[in-house]
Amino acid sequence: MKDLIRQLIQHALDRLAAEGTLPQGLAPAIQVENTKDKSHGDFASNIAMMLAKPAGLKPRELAEKLVAALPQDAQISKVEIAGPGFLNFYQDTSALAARLEAALADAHLGVHKDGPAQRVVIDLSAPNLAKEMHVGHLRSTIIGDAVARVLEFLGDTVIRQNHVGDWGTQFGMLLAYMQEQPVDNDAELSDLESFYRAAKKRFDESPEFADRARELVVKLQAGDAECLRLWNRFNDISLSHCQKVYDRLGVNLTMADVKGESAYNDDLPNVIADLQAKGLLTESDGAQCVFLDEFKNAEGNPLPLIVQKAGGGYLYATTDLAATRYRANVLKADRALYFVDQRQALHFQMVFAAARLAGFVPESFEMEHMGFGTMNGADGRPFKTRDGGTVKLIDLLDEAEARAYALVKDKNPELDEAELRNIARAVGIGAVKYADLSKHRTSDYSFNFELMLSFEGNTAPYLLYAYTRVASVFRKLGKEFDEVEGHIVLQADQETALAARLAQFGEILGSVAEKGVPHVLCAYLYDIAGLFSSFYEHCPILAAETAEQQQSRLRLAALTGRTLKQGLELLGLQTLERM
Ligand code: ARG
Repeated sequence: MKDLIRQLIQHALDRLAAEGTLPQGLAPAIQVENTKDKSHGDFASNIAMMLAKPAGLKPRELAEKLVAALPQDAQISKVEIAGPGFLNFYQDTSALAARLEAALADAHLGVHKDGPAQRVVIDLSAPNLAKEMHVGHLRSTIIGDAVARVLEFLGDTVIRQNHVGDWGTQFGMLLAYMQEQPVDNDAELSDLESFYRAAKKRFDESPEFADRARELVVKLQAGDAECLRLWNRFNDISLSHCQKVYDRLGVNLTMADVKGESAYNDDLPNVIADLQAKGLLTESDGAQCVFLDEFKNAEGNPLPLIVQKAGGGYLYATTDLAATRYRANVLKADRALYFVDQRQALHFQMVFAAARLAGFVPESFEMEHMGFGTMNGADGRPFKTRDGGTVKLIDLLDEAEARAYALVKDKNPELDEAELRNIARAVGIGAVKYADLSKHRTSDYSFNFELMLSFEGNTAPYLLYAYTRVASVFRKLGKEFDEVEGHIVLQADQETALAARLAQFGEILGSVAEKGVPHVLCAYLYDIAGLFSSFYEHCPILAAETAEQQQSRLRLAALTGRTLKQGLELLGLQTLERM
């Protein structure tokens, strides 16, 4: 609807420009908002106020000319001028009802991508295998997974790339420590975090061990069979830890999506040679660098992107450069979205700029860093255990489920054990994911069990519960969502308000896909749940006045149920039929 209104306004502006009322060549960003108060229509625009000055008119005068120049559209019943010159648009309720009917008749709820389908790489999760996955990778995993699901729903082909840190100097230390252990040290390795700490301790205490570690890195990089065997075994164990977390979280990631740093090893000398051939390399203190004019340090000097160390070793940036061209040219992606900590923003800006400068990717290839903020503890400080250690994700998820179990049992003591466990899983895991997804991606946020498990507010329990309320209406009738006859006829304000919001599902998914912002979908579903509540309160369904009215309301409820379920699924939440 907003897009439609923008188009109508654009038409009117073009007409006014053609007849000389407006100067030629104005290209304003046309803003259209939902109105808060329905007595002001359903949508409003401040365009007349924005353009009054260049037009040399009073805002209300320009508004009148705009209204006269607006094309007719079946979706709009009337347009009014309000206050200083707002344009208020009233949605036509029968046209709106017809759109909802079309959504009900479609397995995709009437949602289809505006432009052509694309191939999109989603770079997500990407833990460092030397250690256990930590909370930063939780955010990348959850947000990346939600955006991937939305893109797929809209018809894009998504290629998930788990760019794990499986290479680098720490591996020498780990291999040296593995060699010292008895043959079968899988048990030891089951706790990666303490294995890493023990290896690090040896490394710091024994110069002889440290030398051996450094030798092993060189041997590993030279392709020594024994080193590779140990390294593979270590990575297998570490990856299986990750997979456990993914399965537990219900994110769509498998071993097949892993394309770690090591996968680009063979291409790194080519990256350097190609940069060299293009004349982009400068030597600085023995290191090879790409200097990019647009990046300057505090003194105003260009910043280097270091791609090869003085000793010949390659860096994180070198691997990422290799990855850009693999993604563009081998995977043939149109777009790549990187879900990585905000603190790596400069790294990605520089890598993207260097990749373009070097012609590694076609001009049309879009690369976007979808940065995210830090997850803090409830106290607003970086998330740590009480004794200052890193919080293990598995422990965090266990605690979420245990707390959800206690809450649900308290509410519904009569539920049997298996159902209780199932609900606790959906609520507990859902709460952790939803708390993360519902915050603005780029802001830091505080992890707080009490808040995320509350049945009030914009939380997973609230939304999961809202869905079960819709489901229970149908259960009482013994019907499925798609088994209701009749037509939607919008009469009460609560019906129209719910209907208008339901009709925006496609637009909402469009912005999630464009900007990588799942919190927009969360806010939308939260709104739908609230609008459904007031509809349900004011417009009796089972006690409706006529059969037609009951059918209409049931159809509206059915679309609400399907939208909530689909929306939650796109966020990666498991819905429940009762709780
Ligand atoms: N392993 C990196 C880290 O933990 C994240 C990798 C993100 N992806 C990338 N293409 N650089 O910081």
